[in-house]
Amino acid sequence: MGIVALTMKASVIEMFLVLLVTGIHSNKEMIKKIKRPKFTVPQISCDVKAGKIINPEFMVKCPAGCQDPKYHVYGTNVYASYSSVCGAAVHSGILDNSGGKILVRKVAGQSGYRGSYSNGVQSLSLPRWRESFIVSESKPKKGVTYPSALTYSSFRSSVAQTGETTKAYQRPPVPGTTVPPVTLAQVLTVTVAEATHTTLPRPFPSTTSTTSSPRPQPAGHRNRDTDLWSTADYTSSQNRPGASPGIPRQDLSGAAFQRPATADVSLGSVPKEELSTQSLEPVSLGDPNCKVDLSFVIDGSAGLGKRRFRIQKQFLADIAQALDIGPEGPLMGVVQYGDNPAPQFNLKAHTNSRDLKTAIEKITQRGGLSNVGRAISFVTKNFFSKANGNRGGAPNVAVVMVDGWPTDKVEEASRLARESGINIFFITIEGAAESEKQHLVEANFANKAVCRTNGFYSLHVQSWFGLHKTLQPLVKRVCDADRLACSKTCFNSADLGFVIDGSSSVGTTNFRTVLQFVANLSKEFEISDTDTRVGAVQYTYEQRLEFGFDAYSSKADLLNAIKRVGYWSGGTSTGAAISYALEQLFKKSKPNKRKLMVLITDGRSYDDVRIPAMAAHLRGVITYAIGVAWAAQDELEVIATHPAKDHSFFVDEFDNLYQYVPRIIQNICTEFNSQPRN
Ligand SMILES: *[C@@H]1O[C@H](CO)[C@@H](O)[C@H](O)[C@H]1NC(C)=O
Repeated sequence: MGIVALTMKASVIEMFLVLLVTGIHSNKEMIKKIKRPKFTVPQISCDVKAGKIINPEFMVKCPAGCQDPKYHVYGTNVYASYSSVCGAAVHSGILDNSGGKILVRKVAGQSGYRGSYSNGVQSLSLPRWRESFIVSESKPKKGVTYPSALTYSSFRSSVAQTGETTKAYQRPPVPGTTVPPVTLAQVLTVTVAEATHTTLPRPFPSTTSTTSSPRPQPAGHRNRDTDLWSTADYTSSQNRPGASPGIPRQDLSGAAFQRPATADVSLGSVPKEELSTQSLEPVSLGDPNCKVDLSFVIDGSAGLGKRRFRIQKQFLADIAQALDIGPEGPLMGVVQYGDNPAPQFNLKAHTNSRDLKTAIEKITQRGGLSNVGRAISFVTKNFFSKANGNRGGAPNVAVVMVDGWPTDKVEEASRLARESGINIFFITIEGAAESEKQHLVEANFANKAVCRTNGFYSLHVQSWFGLHKTLQPLVKRVCDADRLACSKTCFNSADLGFVIDGSSSVGTTNFRTVLQFVANLSKEFEISDTDTRVGAVQYTYEQRLEFGFDAYSSKADLLNAIKRVGYWSGGTSTGAAISYALEQLFKKSKPNKRKLMVLITDGRSYDDVRIPAMAAHLRGVITYAIGVAWAAQDELEVIATHPAKDHSFFVDEFDNLYQYVPRIIQNICTEFNSQPRN
């Protein structure tokens, strides 16, 4: 022991000395650098994009001639890292066309880049990009050491950099297989092969042909292959990747149908030159500001028609592009519904926008009815499983596309989905006209399906031609993690059971105060059968159920019921009361609800509380113990969930109980929010 300690001490001292020496050494170097700022400034060519350079801050020398429009620049002042570094320098006026030294600093990605004409360079707009940079004059900042050689992110760079590291970007393994990490070069080879060989098996072959035998339609459910689209349909062979939906121009009223284009250049239509070099960009890890697990539930019913189905696919592809899919950002899977739901691919099947778009292009229409409710149930039960790539820490979002109206009910299925933590969005297209409303299985189905009717969770367009208008709002909303809490919050996700001491020592007046306390706590929650439910037990020597979780489904009814609870008077068997509450209240709690027990007592229990309390904790009932007057602190701490200081409270007088309402609520919510989402 002594020897070991001694050796350890010696090595610690040794380490300390090494650190000291290195410290002095590097300090010296620093001083040298500041004294002599001359170092070799690396030279780059006009076509080098900032995204290729890994260094966060660097100085470079640009050649002459970077004003040429072939070196694309995206943005103004702040440029997307997809831009030519030197082109951006000319655009921002730091350099003229004769080249020179500049300073480049990487900054965070933006949600939009504005194009402008400046200093002879036309820059382009871009909706969003993962990284940006700014350019300034080459005045080195004091104390900053600039690299004299740059680190490039891809294996093929336009400047030969001997001895520089290259970073191999890895693609996550294909589900179900364990493959060694792939380099970018391998990824590219694979992608090219996938793109050119049409004989590759489709992930989920379609089971229903929409052309050969159309399924019977329910009365009133539209089959619109014939109404709006009377001209000959396009064959699927014309449906090539990247092609716009096959809609004859004359069918479009003016320029009604356009690609989503809030900017000059949407990501989906990067100029040709860019597309050819795009493969050199590293595979994106995804937009970290939008980490969601997304399920698109798409309409494949026969009534939809082929062209609308194609518009839907194009929309999906545009979404996939706009979202910047990746393992560190959003993941997206697709389920198609007809008579029955069919998974097209799950969350982990395609983990970048490009692969995803290729997969979307391969989806074929199933046909059949429009059984949306069945599809939502499928999503709840199967889609968001861990095996299907659900990450757990990311909010679950389902976007349901509905043409016209569903042929089954959606309300109940949606409620169950919401209760299991899925944020449901509905995009409804071409809803029922007044004359068609009689055919609806469920009037107002979208409002019944989504979380609340404030419009956040539903989008409606009159026509498929207008679908692209929903792209930007949808992308913004599904990425807004703070607002996605609607399906589950600390206020709407609990089964809250009160265990109330009705012993003689409390007295009538104080008992009223306790009931007020119960009411004040309950008031903070959203009360309904699908949100938070409240139950209550009163105890003395004995116990009785005042009301169960299923008794009241509105706040008003609940508050009235609390008022009506009659004071019992008797002894204090707190242990038995906890056991009773577990049996009579929490046994009937829903599996996906947070079980919260609030026990209020004014004295030491006649019976043992340890075992019943442990049983409560083991069953996942989060227990708060509120003690008043003669209550025993040690007992409260045994009853309370660990850590006791957050779950047990003591007050001298009943009149001070009210002070703990905000504290308990705050604690409940803090605990809720600190759990992983969904
Ligand atoms: C309950 O709330 C009412 C109204 O805010 C307040 O006057 C009362 O003191 C509160 N009582 C308890 C016990 O929380």
